[in-house]
Amino acid sequence: MIVWGISANSHDAALSVFRDNELIFASHSERFSGIKNDPDLCGSLVEYARQWGEPERVYWYENPYLKTARQLFAGQGWKFSENNISKYLKRWNIHAPISYTSHHLSHAAAGYFTSTYSDACVIVLDAIGEYNTLTIWQGKGDKLTRLFKLDFPDSIGLWYSAMTQRCGLKPLEDEYILMGMAAYGDPDRLVNDILNDFFWFDEYFTEWESMGVMLASRRNLHQGCLDWRPELTSTQDLYDIAAGTQAAYEYILERILSYAVTMSKSKNLVLMGGCALNCSANRILGKYYDNIWIMPNPGDAGSSLGSVLAHTKKRLAFSTAYIGYDMGKNEKDENIVDHILEHKICGLARNKAEFGPRALGNRSLLADPRGNEIKDRVNEIKHRQKFRPFAPAILEELAHDYFIFPSGWDNSRYMQVVAKCRYPELFPAIVHADGSSRVQTVAKGSGPFRELLEKWYERTGCPMLLNTSLNIKGQPMVNDHKDAEAFEKKYGVKVFN
Ligand SMILES: [Fe+2]
Repeated sequence: MIVWGISANSHDAALSVFRDNELIFASHSERFSGIKNDPDLCGSLVEYARQWGEPERVYWYENPYLKTARQLFAGQGWKFSENNISKYLKRWNIHAPISYTSHHLSHAAAGYFTSTYSDACVIVLDAIGEYNTLTIWQGKGDKLTRLFKLDFPDSIGLWYSAMTQRCGLKPLEDEYILMGMAAYGDPDRLVNDILNDFFWFDEYFTEWESMGVMLASRRNLHQGCLDWRPELTSTQDLYDIAAGTQAAYEYILERILSYAVTMSKSKNLVLMGGCALNCSANRILGKYYDNIWIMPNPGDAGSSLGSVLAHTKKRLAFSTAYIGYDMGKNEKDENIVDHILEHKICGLARNKAEFGPRALGNRSLLADPRGNEIKDRVNEIKHRQKFRPFAPAILEELAHDYFIFPSGWDNSRYMQVVAKCRYPELFPAIVHADGSSRVQTVAKGSGPFRELLEKWYERTGCPMLLNTSLNIKGQPMVNDHKDAEAFEKKYGVKVFN
């Protein structure tokens, strides 16, 4: 039996295909349409998914009725027609019956049922679901029980997005850039002002007493906060706002973790929602939990899986993020290594695309991470701000020789946490201003990218490659052969398949 899970009609649409409870495909819509963060499904994605047959049921990632009510409550108007999902899906001739899963339950189920834990504390932290903005769940066996909720208008995710906009970046898209900027600022200058101006710190809600902070926001964050401290306009001011925001977020996250730990006795943590992508802050999770699982696509796109899993309640062994469009593979690894040694850089687009925001070696721009010049060369292609470092992909068993991981993290297969580089002078291109690196550890037997990395190590003695996403500036990651050719043509960098 074929069923589809879909998250769409908001931002960053995605579709997952399940056959008899087995996940066989998942992709963001943007990879097929070429529109970054495409909020809608697109014809080519739906057609690709149809190769496994028509769905007998569609699981939708949120409740459109509750969402309509909240939008009305939030002053966004009566959007009933926009939220008519049955009508929406008919645009792509999808006529299967639809089951709805609430937004935060979709997140929680995507995390919990892809974890290996038989019990866990599940924290979902995002901008907004229908009403919920933070939920804490107890996972036990095949049951998820909600223990706590925080509702709109109080939202840590919305606040972080508003601060992203305040720093001159695009909200709901550039939050990771704010996180990168933070390393260039002084966190102490503004952190207290930010906490005081945006959050209440009294004990108005007794249930929050043990957290010592009441996470009610003082503003309607849907309106943004561009008017906050208008005198702060210099580049250094913006860096300091970013650093203060990140420090405030980490403070709040710590309060949430210490509160959650008292509610759910489990030592296993599952963290989900867009905030789970904050790899800088994720280094503190191990202070409260022994084991940590963040599903590789913890934002709304990952809820295309969660909407299904919340209904089936079946465990899904999530062993790989390579579940997207399949480009196959042609080139020998030897030739790719030769090319990197000669030109220091190359593109790689082969096999199945990654499901999630990170390029993990199947749609990657790779470079030799050694030496001082490589960062500038990669930046010439990527046109990125100088404060954004590139990531290393390293043989997992050697990762601890080169990086110091925070407690609770033995590996980082999906680039979800930062680690300290032991030799920043040898690998300056993959080390951030604060000495951290967003490491991808590549496990034995994890597929063709691992084999390439092994070949690279064999030839050079260096166990890592610089790895950044293969995309034309402003566009989503390369998906198919046509995209790879376009990249090659635009930047004159060879893309291997
Ligand atoms: Fe969400």
